[in-house]
Amino acid sequence: MRYRPVARAASEPRAGFMRGPVSGRPAAERFSVSIESNSKPRLARVVAFSGSAKRPSRTRILVEAVGAELGRLRRIDLTVCDLIDFGPGLGATRRDDLSPPAAQLIEMIEGADALIVGTPVYQGGYAGLFKHVFDFVDPARMAGKPVALTATGGGLRHALVVEHGLRPLFGFFAAHVAPTSVYAGSDDLVDGRVVDATVAARIGAAAAELAALIDVTRTSEARASA
Ligand SMILES: Cc1cc2nc3c(=O)[nH]c(=O)nc-3n(C[C@H](O)[C@H](O)[C@H](O)COP(=O)(O)O)c2cc1C
Repeated sequence: MRYRPVARAASEPRAGFMRGPVSGRPAAERFSVSIESNSKPRLARVVAFSGSAKRPSRTRILVEAVGAELGRLRRIDLTVCDLIDFGPGLGATRRDDLSPPAAQLIEMIEGADALIVGTPVYQGGYAGLFKHVFDFVDPARMAGKPVALTATGGGLRHALVVEHGLRPLFGFFAAHVAPTSVYAGSDDLVDGRVVDATVAARIGAAAAELAALIDVTRTSEARASA
């Protein structure tokens, strides 16, 4: 399911594993003993990234809402972040020239087990800086990554930006994108809360789909490394 390069051969013992009292067994068997008896699966690292350059941000509310719903469904390690926090250093044109905080954002996105992404609609499309961030991301680190898509706009006229803008972008990355995307206009979010029942239902559906995608990805990763 996920096409990350595997650095370790399946039969090769891991460093942590080698500490266990398992000498004398074949490597593959030792590895599976280690998984079953000693290691707890770590929580899925989920990054909810809002591509808005202002605060307060409606897009932030939306990615947070999907993250909160996902957190009700699964135990996750959730980080919510805003583009605005990574500063002018994001404006570089080469990855090597990114400021340390901006480089950290790209690494966080690449290292996540799953993403919840959100963009404000600007001039009928995703925000330029949102796309700029993903221009730095290594496609090999995105392939097979579970992703939920969200966007906010001033009204409902550009609601299909999630389908016509975001979905092709994450299709390019070969990410595993949740079928339900979430769009909210300004009337759907009041005082920092989602007030529209349809948007709330779509948040629930997107979170449930993302949870299922995370389960599938983690199960196949565990099988591949066993
Ligand atoms: C430069 C600019 C262009 C915008 N263009 C659109 C647009 O084409 N369609 C739309 O529905 N809203 C548009 N908006 C409104 C924003 O998408 C909307 O207010 C959004 O919720 C802002 O998200 P934020 O609060 O996370 O920054 C635009 C806003 C700005 C600042």
